[in-house]
Amino acid sequence: MSRQHPVVAIDGPTASGKSTVARAVADRLGLKHIDTGAMYRSVALASMRRSVDLRDDAALTALAASLAIEFRPAPGGDRIVVDGEDVTEAIRAPEVSTAASIVSAVPGVRVALVARQQALGAAGGIVMEGRDIGTVVFPNAEVKVFLGASLEARTRRRHDELRARGVDADLDEVRRQEAERDARDETRSHSPLRPADDAVILDTTLLTLEQVVAAIVQLVRERSDVV
Ligand code: DC
Repeated sequence: MSRQHPVVAIDGPTASGKSTVARAVADRLGLKHIDTGAMYRSVALASMRRSVDLRDDAALTALAASLAIEFRPAPGGDRIVVDGEDVTEAIRAPEVSTAASIVSAVPGVRVALVARQQALGAAGGIVMEGRDIGTVVFPNAEVKVFLGASLEARTRRRHDELRARGVDADLDEVRRQEAERDARDETRSHSPLRPADDAVILDTTLLTLEQVVAAIVQLVRERSDVV
């Protein structure tokens, strides 16, 4: 980490717009982008496919430690490749979202994935998004942003996103699932979702994507030598 190669940590709850924002900031500043949620989703998908019991912490921990999870740069955004298989679309299924939220509460899974995230970002020059990047993975990040949005705004975004992918989701059901995942992420005993003390908190409910991206780009320029 340095002023030439900063770490930009972007955290926030589900459907806060983190991924779109993080990717846009990374593109604009020529930094790498890592979506750590994709790693928890990859462990969840593998556990479902291998019929690993979601209550079996030891088996989930072993899985998290052994999977080969790669981010392969591609024109439309990184492809997520797990043990050689492209799972980019498969990890976005609603069942995987629920399983990822359960899997990510397992301490051993977090320890295994946090170590990988620290290795991926060790050289800096990276925008990393998740729930605990500013608090646990990179507590010394040059820039920490916590994105928030009202449950209603996030429900609408998730609903739109699901429909765009051809999933016919019920709005009330999406709201219920979002609230349930938030509650689980915020109340787990290991690394609960919370803003770092020194994070800049941006409420995106009434902001456009461009406004959010511009605000973060300006912060990065103020706190690093990236232009
Ligand atoms: O951001 P996402 O919806 O793709 O994340 C999937 C799940 O993984 C979500 O329930 C929260 C969890 N997660 C986490 O606990 N820590 C991270 N750094 C990233 C995601």
